[in-house]
Amino acid sequence: MTILVTGSAGFIGANFVLDWLAINDEPVISLDKLTYAGNLQNLASLDNDERHTFVHGDIGDGELVDRLLKEYRPRAILNFAAESHVDRSIHGPEDFIQTNIVGTFRLLEAVRAYWNSLSEADAAAFRFLHISTDEVYGSLGPNDPAFRETNKYEPNSPYSASKAASDHLVRAYHHTYGLPVLTTNCSNNYGPYHFPEKLIPLVIHNALAGKPLPIYGDGQQIRDWLYVKDHCSAIRRVLEAGQLGETYNVGGWNEKANLDVVHTLCDILDQEKAREDGHSYREQITLVKDRPGHDRRYAMDATRLERELNWKPAETFETGIRKTVRWYLDNQDWVTNVTSDAYREWVGKHYA
Ligand code: NAD
Ligand code: DAU
Repeated sequence: MTILVTGSAGFIGANFVLDWLAINDEPVISLDKLTYAGNLQNLASLDNDERHTFVHGDIGDGELVDRLLKEYRPRAILNFAAESHVDRSIHGPEDFIQTNIVGTFRLLEAVRAYWNSLSEADAAAFRFLHISTDEVYGSLGPNDPAFRETNKYEPNSPYSASKAASDHLVRAYHHTYGLPVLTTNCSNNYGPYHFPEKLIPLVIHNALAGKPLPIYGDGQQIRDWLYVKDHCSAIRRVLEAGQLGETYNVGGWNEKANLDVVHTLCDILDQEKAREDGHSYREQITLVKDRPGHDRRYAMDATRLERELNWKPAETFETGIRKTVRWYLDNQDWVTNVTSDAYREWVGKHYA
């Protein structure tokens, strides 16, 4: 028994692999292209662990994926690999179309051929789990109910449009070819190994570096935050007991305005690592130009996952965010390593 995890050197993929091997012995084959967002240091604790095999490659490389599937014969594939940053998709959508749409298509083709080659029993037990986002549903008004699995898709950014397209391909491979697929759509994650281009790690990083904390527009946009390890437990549960062809919304019932999130981060940092001048990190908050097409509000209704699969998040926002700040304070070497020249070039261009 083996699983194949794509995008395993990124934020959520790495957390998933680390948690998986911490709680069971089923080996993991990791496939990652190691883009700017993929960092082998995230998986360094598995360096001498024979249950883990890392393969450097692209989900869109059909020959490579064919070879891996024949060699390792996984009983499940979890597809985390993606271009994931909305701002980058606005600056340059090409990579998003290539990996999120074309890459998912090529992966599905390779998986379909492999699945067709399996014995009846192995084919019935096989699962392809596609990890997706709440952003495919578009933006909510202030009084709208949270997104349910039945909401229509209304993606607004090149990123969310590319994820929506990949979700549709996954659905079609089930409907047309019978491929045993599952899809999860999750809200905003936060936690260890989160690349410091995203709001929470960026704010922690900039605060400690004495730099401005950039808030887009009025800072009143709402996101629904989930601690990454709760997302991982939801994925494990869906893999174990999800109904084939179905989608499951994952969320933590933690809607927060961006400015409130940043205030919370500043307050925790004030307690855990006060500024030398005794002033609050809140003084570094700076309102900047808004993101084009910025979605105003996301909120996930995770009732289906809770009722049908008995899943619940373990962390509240208050416990999870404090753990996260402490992780960043304890892992400044990791931050230094991932904030390379390429990172500095992006930050310079984007916040100019
Ligand atoms: P990330 O950007 O941190 O990691 C993505 C990983 O995929 C990186 O390791 C990268 O090297 C790898 N990758 C990119 N293109 C690849 C390719 N063509 N072939 C193989 N590997 C490739 O992203 P993340 O935040 O960990 O997100 C993982 C998945 O979860 C994505 O599909 C994303 O859409 C989804 N998601 C993310 C969030 C969130 O809040 N971060 C929430 C919901 C869903
Ligand atoms: O909702 C799930 C999605 O969450 C995932 O699918 C994406 O992969 C992930 O990147 C994330 O997208 P967001 O755009 O919501 O995350 P980000 O951290 O980029 O931004 C969170 C909010 O903070 C958003 O409203 C934009 C705002 N923001 C972000 C940055 C980077 C700022 O105000 N300032 C910033 O510098």
